[in-house]
Parts: sequence; C-alpha cells; structure tokens
Amino acid sequence: MPFKQREKSMQDFRKFLYVLPFAWISLTPMPVLASDNDDAKFAEYRDSLEEGNPGEFWVDDGEELFFTKAGPKNASLEKCDFGLGPGVVEGAYAQMPRYFADTDKVETLEGRLITCMKTLQGLSDEDIQEQYLNIHYLNAAEEDSRVSPLSQLATYVAAQSNDMPFSVSLEHPKEQYAYELGKKTFWHRMGAMDLSCAHCHAVPGRVLRGVELPIMTDPRRAGKVMGAFPAYVNKDGNVRTQWWRNERCVLAMRLPWLKVGSEIDAALILYQVKKASESKEEISVPGLKPRA
Ligand code: HEC
Repeated sequence: MPFKQREKSMQDFRKFLYVLPFAWISLTPMPVLASDNDDAKFAEYRDSLEEGNPGEFWVDDGEELFFTKAGPKNASLEKCDFGLGPGVVEGAYAQMPRYFADTDKVETLEGRLITCMKTLQGLSDEDIQEQYLNIHYLNAAEEDSRVSPLSQLATYVAAQSNDMPFSVSLEHPKEQYAYELGKKTFWHRMGAMDLSCAHCHAVPGRVLRGVELPIMTDPRRAGKVMGAFPAYVNKDGNVRTQWWRNERCVLAMRLPWLKVGSEIDAALILYQVKKASESKEEISVPGLKPRA
C-alpha cells in the first residue's frame, strides 16, 4: 500500500478507536456518577492546560529527584558534571551532546545522567534498567502514560538552559565523528521501507497525517523543534525527550531499537542540535505539543 494511503487508513482506524468508547457510553444507561466523574476529569484537564504547561511538574519533580540521595553510595546527582563543571546545570543542555573525557564518549543529556548515576551513586546497569529504563526507554508506546524519572531529571536539567540558543561545538574529533555519523544516519536510506530521515525531514512541503513535516536541515526550524524537547505532549499525557522523538521515527522506519545513550542516539541528536545551533532560536523547555 502506498505510504500516504496506509497512513490514512491507520488514521481512520485510530479515529474509530477513539469513537468506540463513546459509542458504548451512549448505548448503555450510564450511572450519572460516572459521567460526572468524567466531566470533572476533563474540566480538571482543561484547567491545568489553561493554568500552564503540565510539563512544569516534570521540572519540579526532576529537581527533587536530582537532589535526592540514592544508590549504594547514597549520593545525589548534584555533583554531576554536564560539561561545565561539577554541579553546573545552568546552560549545560545548550551545549549537549558533547564530548566527555572521563567516559571518552560524546554523551546526550540522558546518557550523561546515566553515567552520573553509575559514577556518583554507584548504580549498576541492572539497577539503571530496573529503576530508570523500564519506564518508556525500552518501549516507546505513545499510550504509555507512566512517568519516567529519567525524563523528569532530563526536563529539570534542560530547563536550566531556557532562553539560551543551542551552541554545540564540534571541536573534539569525537564530536566531529559523532556529527558525521549523525549526518550519515540522517541521510542514509535504511530498513524494510528504504527510507531516510531526510526523505521526510529535508524536503519542503512534505505532509503526513495532515501535518507539515519539519525541515530539520533548516536551522530555524531545527532550533524551534529541538529547543522544545523535553516537551509535554497532550495526546500522550506525558513528557517526551529528543531521544523519544527520534525513536518514534526510527520505529516507524522499522529499524532496530534506538538505545538511549548509544552512539547513534548521540549522533542523531548532535546532527540536529548542530543545525539548531546555527539559529538564534532559544531553548524553551518544557515545550507543549498537541502530539509528537
Ligand atoms: C516517513 C516519514 C518520516 C521519516 C522517515 C522520519 N520521520 Fe520524523 N517525523 C515524521 C512525522 C509524521 C512526525 C510527527 C509530526 C507531527 O505529528 O507533528 C515526525 C516528527 C519528528 C520530529 C519532531 C518534530 C516536531 O515538530 O516536534 C523529529 C525531531 C524527527 N521526526 C526526527 C526524525 C529522525 C531523526 C528521523 C530518522 C531517524 C526521522 N524523523 C524519520 C515523519 C518521519
């Protein structure tokens, strides 16, 4: 089936799924209480959106987590070095992904948080998987509304770069390598569908699901898009990070799982954030999106 047509039928199917529960409600003599409850829930939701961005809860909860002692070493993450020195969070996200000498790797924000959980808190890979990755870092289902503590931490740290434009450097050879790898990954056709990211995100005027696809090679557009993540996504009722957004498209391309903190994860983010760095668009986290 051609891609557009397939998307269209998926869309119709999704609409059907949305309508289904309401159809059931209208046919069943519902207790008044239940619909009152639903009304109250919707009203609460509408209020929370009017008052502001529910993603702010991720910032607050992430801050609390950041300063909470945990792990075998009973330490918090407050001494974590995001590239500007131990404990400096202000402006750090604007310069990530970046090279870190202690791990000899280019790391993303989430990747660096995981490194600090190991070095400062003494957590093992198994601990990290159990406590942090099991919630939506191993399964990027849109309907999974559980809150991830790793996303909370990332949202808190990212928000400390608000109102600053991205400015990643490609000074270190490993940063240059990661950028080239990201570029290659972005432009290379892969997977069962023989698609590249560029196929959808480098050609002006491509529309899918009625949405114009962002041109990620345009610095201003890349600046707006990358600077909005982590973003609260209404449809999911959850905050999604840059990693999650890339992973959704990787999934759609039928490619293997994009492991958070992996070389390809850092490369894809660095490539797009480098584009963003060529604009003056400021980071504004948490973003607010109808869907992602
Ligand atoms: C078949 C088309 C397609 C391909 C291939 C594709 N994407 Fe996407 N991408 C989309 C769609 C659709 C959206 C969601 C747009 C929406 O609903 O707002 C999206 C959204 C995004 C966003 C967030 C945009 C925003 O406005 O928040 C990023 C970043 C992104 N894709 C990166 C990538 C990367 C990186 C790749 C390659 C690994 C890729 N995409 C491959 C279709 C594609």
